Amino acid sequence: MMTFQGSHILSVSQFDRDAIARILDISAKMAPYAARKKRCYVLEGAILSNLFFEPSTRTRVSFGTAFNLLGGYVRETVGQENSSLSKGESLFDTAQVISGYSDVITMRHPKMHSVAEFAKGSTVPVINGGDGANEHPTQALLDLFTIQSEMMHYQKGLDNLNIVLMGDLKHGRTVHSLSKLLSLYKNVKITMVSPTALQMPDSVISTLENAGHQVVITDTMAGNLSCDVIYQTRIQQERFASKDEADLYRGHFSLNKEVYQKYCRENTVIMHPLPRDSRPEANELDTDLNDLDSLAIFRQAQNGVLVRMALFALTLGVEDQLTQFEKDVNWHTNKR
Ligand code: NCD
Repeated sequence: MMTFQGSHILSVSQFDRDAIARILDISAKMAPYAARKKRCYVLEGAILSNLFFEPSTRTRVSFGTAFNLLGGYVRETVGQENSSLSKGESLFDTAQVISGYSDVITMRHPKMHSVAEFAKGSTVPVINGGDGANEHPTQALLDLFTIQSEMMHYQKGLDNLNIVLMGDLKHGRTVHSLSKLLSLYKNVKITMVSPTALQMPDSVISTLENAGHQVVITDTMAGNLSCDVIYQTRIQQERFASKDEADLYRGHFSLNKEVYQKYCRENTVIMHPLPRDSRPEANELDTDLNDLDSLAIFRQAQNGVLVRMALFALTLGVEDQLTQFEKDVNWHTNKR
């Protein structure tokens, strides 16, 4: 069994099914705190350094919120231009210094493997919030938590899943991490719909195929979207040489109500790591889907808080002390 306490979380390859089950169980235990039914102060006094060297809304804010919800304090650095990395400091040196100021560090950076490089210089656990086009392990875990909770309504679990991944599968780190995690389950069928130039990296496809799963690679939506879950992604413009190059692929696989009703099953769950690009030329997930119960995107984003709380509790070794450090909520709240 993997030891979480004191460990970095850099890649989904660290996890086996037992470790994931543990994370998802503890995530579920966080729901009353996130819903403000109770407060938890098990991390009172602990300090998170939340370092974001690339744009982010959900991941950055939910890391901070998750830490606050367990009673901890958050220090934030946003943008390389505001950090000494822009003065030529190495990731190793920055890590030596910041880890002296904190109990745990979360980090996003545009370069592949940069978070692992940073972790070498850190004396405290480092959690990868996305390293370039490589991985996004906490997103994949919250995606799995979401799939599990959405599938529960249909008496299904994470085995025997039929899932479609669509969009920019080459550069999308969330689909890389999610595919690797799904390879640990039984009898998965994954259909990968993308422009040929933006196909899933071979290494990810072989991880799935070597584990005996069925992988379908296609550039056509018609006939290929009948599934339990459709996971749409954004064209990752920031990973292309130019905007013009990204424009070549934008808007090709837009999912709207018409496409959904024509090609998906009635209850196909719609996921997206967000942000969805809602500009008319992209519109990858049309707002006409907003009134569908099967649109899980905002539940998915909310689950990010629970999963990140669980990861903090585990890496700091307090996952069994939550109820000992509880208080009532004394303010008015409409949260449920
Ligand atoms: C994703 C990312 O940053 O990789 N966003 C997120 O963290 N939820 C997906 C994206 O930006 O398209």
